Amino acid sequence: MQAVIEYLKQNESRAVAELSEYLRFPSVSAQPTHKQDLQACAEWVVNHCQSIGLEARLCPTEGNPVVIAKTPRPASNGHPRPHYLIYGHYDVQPPEPFELWKSPPFEPRIEGHSIFARGACDNKGQNLAHLKAIEAYLKTGTELPCDITFVIEGEEEVGSHSLASFLKANHDELRCDAVVISDTGMPTPKHPALTYALRGIVAFEVTLHGPNRDLHSGIFGGTVDNPAMALCQLLGKLRDKNGKVAIPGFYDDVESLSTYERKQFKRLPFKERDFQKFLGVPKLFGERGFTPIEQRSARPTLEINGLTSGYQGEGSKTIVPAWARAKITSRLVPNQRPAKIVKIVQQHLKKLCPPTVRIEIKAGHGAEPYLVSPTSPRAQASLRALKAAFECEPVLMREGGSIPIVNDFKRILKADSLMLGLALPDDNAHSPNEKFDLRNFAKGQLMSAYLWQELGRL
Ligand code: BES
Ligand code: MN
Repeated sequence: MQAVIEYLKQNESRAVAELSEYLRFPSVSAQPTHKQDLQACAEWVVNHCQSIGLEARLCPTEGNPVVIAKTPRPASNGHPRPHYLIYGHYDVQPPEPFELWKSPPFEPRIEGHSIFARGACDNKGQNLAHLKAIEAYLKTGTELPCDITFVIEGEEEVGSHSLASFLKANHDELRCDAVVISDTGMPTPKHPALTYALRGIVAFEVTLHGPNRDLHSGIFGGTVDNPAMALCQLLGKLRDKNGKVAIPGFYDDVESLSTYERKQFKRLPFKERDFQKFLGVPKLFGERGFTPIEQRSARPTLEINGLTSGYQGEGSKTIVPAWARAKITSRLVPNQRPAKIVKIVQQHLKKLCPPTVRIEIKAGHGAEPYLVSPTSPRAQASLRALKAAFECEPVLMREGGSIPIVNDFKRILKADSLMLGLALPDDNAHSPNEKFDLRNFAKGQLMSAYLWQELGRL
């Protein structure tokens, strides 16, 4: 094991150079123009896996390819060896708005202890940390106590559709004891975290159609409804003044928080004032009766993610727009079901829509919420690995983000996920100037190295 740790230290700067290479691919899964970049990025991952001694292949799917890479399988001497999957994604969120980036999103820049680029923490830096740990085992000839299969996909940011079918088709090869995922966060550099719950999600696009073309607002304005105005009024009715989602039935299945959990949340490092300043808002806002930690991880939400209508260019243009559109997502918590939420949201929007415009609703991707025991032997083993690598006491947390595939791992492979995230709250995931802390990159490699020892011992 000492050799593994030594290897990681000695190869730290090469790992950073490799991360820079990985980050140069504009692997934006939401934008069809980047199809080739996703393919090229996946090929880079396969080559990289092969170069460190993994048996790797590119698996085409209906969407973007999945990369499968396995450690060499030693003979088991009669005892079945533990088998773990390491899941990650090479696709990234759109980088827009470009003008807010201090340097171009796909030209990685190192400043201080951070590397800046789209995908730095979400998720390339985090999955590369695991690859580096396995490389250290393989290159130093240190025995790995577990068999490991990497599953690195290219559609996480758009709902992981191809991977779900891939899991079904490759069920036997992927059967495993658990899945290890570093695609979540930790509250501070001194609080490494095991995440035991994620929120689910459902996405919608709502369009209100008005006149059959943009109209002169002087000639026609006043005689027809304005779809942008109608949309604002409609959306305004979806939230009440206490921050509750005002859709009948929305909270019906929400599991209430136990006193124990609420107490645990209180122990997490969090200062409301700092949080408010960090986000640059004049005042926080959230569902009344819950703390910000509860609001963002254990309570459901409904958010407008984008609003479009009419003229967006410079100066003014006097029109009544033909249409207005909102992109909406709702985060779900245990036991809300995506299909049911889609239904009640659609019904409610239709009911609220005035007869002066026509409503069109598209339901997009969805994912169920996820919750796993934080006290299982594997969870405890993960906590020990975190502690050894970070030399700090780890915390347990619930995260507000979603990783759609975790429920498929559970349903299809019957495997739970151990979520050991390395992203910091100021890493700007999904925002301009995304970064990854290179100290966390190094500690993440250590954590992974220790983890296989800990899990191998169970
Ligand atoms: N890494 C995130 C998920 C995440 C972020 C978990 C923060 C916990 C804390 C992942 O890459 C992600 O962003 N997922 C999307 C999924 C969606 C597009 C279906 C998300 O949560 O928005
Ligand atoms: Mn993401």
